[in-house]
Amino acid sequence: ALKLVTIGGGSSYTPELIEGFIKRQDELPIKEIWLVDIPAGEEKLNIVGRMAQRMVKKAGLDWTVHLTLDRREALKDADFVSTQFRVGLLNARIKDERIPASYGMIGQETNGAGGIFKAFRTIPVILDIVKDMKELCPNAWLVNFTNPSGMITEAISTYGQWDRVIGLCNVPVNAMIDEPPLIGKTTEQLTYKFAGIDHFHWHKVWDETGKNVTMDILDKIEADEGDGGLPKNIFDVPFYRAQLDNIQMIPCGYHRYYYREEEMLDHAIEEYNGVGTRAQQVKRLEHELFELYKDPNLAVKPPQLAERGGAHYSDAACEAIASLHADKKTHMVVSTVNHGAIPDLPEDHVVEVSAQIGAAGAIPMAFGALAPAERGWLQLMKNMELVICEAGVTGNYGLALQAFTMNPLVRSGHTAKRILDELLIAHQDYLPQF
Ligand code: NAD
Ligand code: G6P
Ligand code: MN
Ligand code: MN
Repeated sequence: ALKLVTIGGGSSYTPELIEGFIKRQDELPIKEIWLVDIPAGEEKLNIVGRMAQRMVKKAGLDWTVHLTLDRREALKDADFVSTQFRVGLLNARIKDERIPASYGMIGQETNGAGGIFKAFRTIPVILDIVKDMKELCPNAWLVNFTNPSGMITEAISTYGQWDRVIGLCNVPVNAMIDEPPLIGKTTEQLTYKFAGIDHFHWHKVWDETGKNVTMDILDKIEADEGDGGLPKNIFDVPFYRAQLDNIQMIPCGYHRYYYREEEMLDHAIEEYNGVGTRAQQVKRLEHELFELYKDPNLAVKPPQLAERGGAHYSDAACEAIASLHADKKTHMVVSTVNHGAIPDLPEDHVVEVSAQIGAAGAIPMAFGALAPAERGWLQLMKNMELVICEAGVTGNYGLALQAFTMNPLVRSGHTAKRILDELLIAHQDYLPQF
């Protein structure tokens, strides 16, 4: 019988996760689910945790759902540990977005200066979790969802020296759900191959006859017949078709920040001056969701949750757990050690690729070399991740400045240094390493 632990259990996404476990009740012999949070999240944990308990009860299952602030008690003898925490909660994200925007730069949850600082805040906590796991549940799998998911998975692997980890994101899941109907196919009929790093990958698609249908899907997206599963948090600026014709792959939604930086920045500044940044909008949505979760009669995931960017999150998290446990050998797109799947990137560092998920973990599929344009971007972005991770572990200021300089969304110069200094002060309570 399985003991599952979720760190950051007070997240508004928890009902989505519980729904995913309920769907897979035949594959997962669950006994206990432990939802872990910290004092700052205790109220949220209690509200959403009771909602989770009602969902399990309504499904007629005898699983015990524990709500706790004691991470070590939860981790003892765990089989699977998933992470969905946000160090500093949404108030910290507001700073990640607003401080760069106030200087005319993009600050986003996983991109630009904001993404760098989300990594800096999260790395000390995740390494502490890994330390606890080595002692309390050395055979458990760590399923990381905490953003920036790829960089956090890199830190777990490289600095935590923990290889039973899989990093996840819902973006590839959304693409594989929303694209097939655009060309009159089902997901099962198509073969997908992804490669890159988290929030910076491309993919190619073939149909059941072996025909490459990548550009057919792009035709439909260009004709506005669908968005291919673009998450709700990303402003939909179209890519330039001439550029896509050259790439011959479908970029992920986040490529917009790099291929159409000007328009994405204009939009971010407009929101900053108007409705508020994404974090401010999410805060309102979260408030609405928690009001719903308080209803003692509510025991199903409310539709409003689909307004969050992480929709379909449970499909990734719960399917990964079911595949690892039941050796399902499912095709999933995950952050895992490269092992040569992308020859343009180092073998022993984390990439986000199509992989087979089974009892042996993630076995990445070979993708092959990229053309110079994509290779150049990817090598810059991956090496920037490595710089961010080392700075996040060591607290080295010069290295943090290097990360800012490498980041394409941060214009280098005195303003960048000022943004760095301001973020260091704004987040000092969560940056013990600096
Ligand atoms: P949230 O602000 O609701 O935070 C979730 C919970 O984490 C809160 O209840 C908070 O108290 C708790 N927490 C904070 N620090 C903690 C710690 N040290 N230990 C344990 N719990 C702690 O966040 P959210 O909006 O639900 O998002 C959760 C996380 O999932 C974020 O990191 C977010 O970026 C990530 N996410 C990832 C994807 C993806 O594609 N990988 C998609 C959506 C969200
Ligand atoms: C997207 C991404 C996440 C991202 C999140 C933001 O789908 O995959 O990694 O950070 O959703 O969603 P939010 O609703 O919090 O802005
Ligand atoms: Mn993601
Ligand atoms: Mn730069």
